Amino acid sequence: MSINTNVALVTGASSGLGTEIARLLAAHGHDLVLTGRDSAALAKLAAEIKAAHSVTITTMVKNLARPGAVAELAAISPPPF
Ligand SMILES: NC(=O)c1ccc[n+]([C@@H]2O[C@H](COP(=O)([O-])OP(=O)(O)OC[C@H]3O[C@@H](n4cnc5c(N)ncnc54)[C@H](OP(=O)(O)O)[C@@H]3O)[C@@H](O)[C@H]2O)c1
Repeated sequence: MSINTNVALVTGASSGLGTEIARLLAAHGHDLVLTGRDSAALAKLAAEIKAAHSVTITTMVKNLARPGAVAELAAISPPPF
């Protein structure tokens, strides 16, 4: 895996493939923005990853099925990605 920017946005990070992708990206030294609807699962994953890797993690609870939610993610200020 070769990625040029240091911050990765992982949607669906609270379970399944997203969780594993977040772990892999952190192992490669990438800071993370983790999104999903389950805030407890996101917080648990962020704590687990921070304990294992020196990366910065932002969690954002978002229902991406809601109109406007994707635009809200893109409008994070200052933009981490
Ligand atoms: N092409 C392939 O070979 C292949 C193989 C496996 C999986 N997939 C696909 O890859 C995707 C992920 O699979 P998975 O097994 O990891 O699924 P999963 O375990 O069901 O994970 C779904 C993730 O999406 C999030 N999510 C669902 N609805 C959401 C919403 N409205 N807003 C924000 N987040 C939402 C869930 O978080 P919250 O519940 O916290 O919102 C969860 O983190 C699925 O679409 C699956 O069909 C494709």
